Amino acid sequence: MAYETILTEVQDNVLVITLNREDKLNALNSILLGELALAINELYDNADLVGAVITGKGSKAFAAGADIAEFTALDASGARKLAQRGHDLFFRIENSPKPVVAAVNGFALGGGCELAMACHIRISGETAKFGQPEVNLGIIPGYGGTQRMTQLVGKGRAFELLMTGKMINGAEAYRIGLVNQLGHNDTLVDTSVELIQTIAAKAPVAIAQVIKSVNAVFEDGVNGYETEVDGFVACTGTADFKEGASAFLEKRKANFTGK
Ligand code: COA
Repeated sequence: MAYETILTEVQDNVLVITLNREDKLNALNSILLGELALAINELYDNADLVGAVITGKGSKAFAAGADIAEFTALDASGARKLAQRGHDLFFRIENSPKPVVAAVNGFALGGGCELAMACHIRISGETAKFGQPEVNLGIIPGYGGTQRMTQLVGKGRAFELLMTGKMINGAEAYRIGLVNQLGHNDTLVDTSVELIQTIAAKAPVAIAQVIKSVNAVFEDGVNGYETEVDGFVACTGTADFKEGASAFLEKRKANFTGK
């Protein structure tokens, strides 16, 4: 499918989504949010895809935030709609039953940092720049940043990043747990694809249940321990569980089918 603000390609059954507004540092405008939502639909719907990587075009930015040019006309109702749209999309990424990895190749600021945090795993270069600079504009994050930043780095560090609006580099983001792995900028996508393939070699139902159970930790009114038990039970009913256990006992590699 041809998009205006993103590029998509399939690399070894992994959907690589590249935010493609390089001249605006891949800022997330309204069109881009809509197109990213369509690409994520493709990840959900296409059984051949085993996961997705999200990255930014060019060497400078992953995404430098929501498109500030679209902020000027915002009233209260428009602001609520915009935030809701971002939340819906980022929840869909976070709840994808297939892994989504952010390959952070430069600035990940504001909505860009929020997008990276909505992905299951983040890989970045040492010189990438992370931050939530919204307070410099007189606003706060609107795409889940206050919640996911706190979940990932803890309350004290989240307060500091959110209240100072300061940028930290990839090495510091790695040190505080915002980033899972550091890599080289020119191989971030390949490293991310390889990581997804490692995950894709496991039983897909089990991976989907891991995602559901971990996300349940942060869901209001949901008992994550019960979610885990339900997921465990669901896995034991799969052909892949029988295959995994048999393969172990027969000292061979399991051949999972996703059933
Ligand atoms: N929304 C809209 N446009 C943006 C943008 C954003 N979030 N971030 C960058 N751009 C645009 C700039 O306006 C500029 O466009 P122009 O060439 O038409 O003037 C272009 O991208 C390049 O950015 P520029 O500021 O010239 O690059 P820089 O290297 O001097 O600075 C940043 C890089 C990231 C420090 C700076 O662009 C910045 O602070 N961006 C905003 C970050 C932010 O506040 N994000 C949170 C938004 S809620």
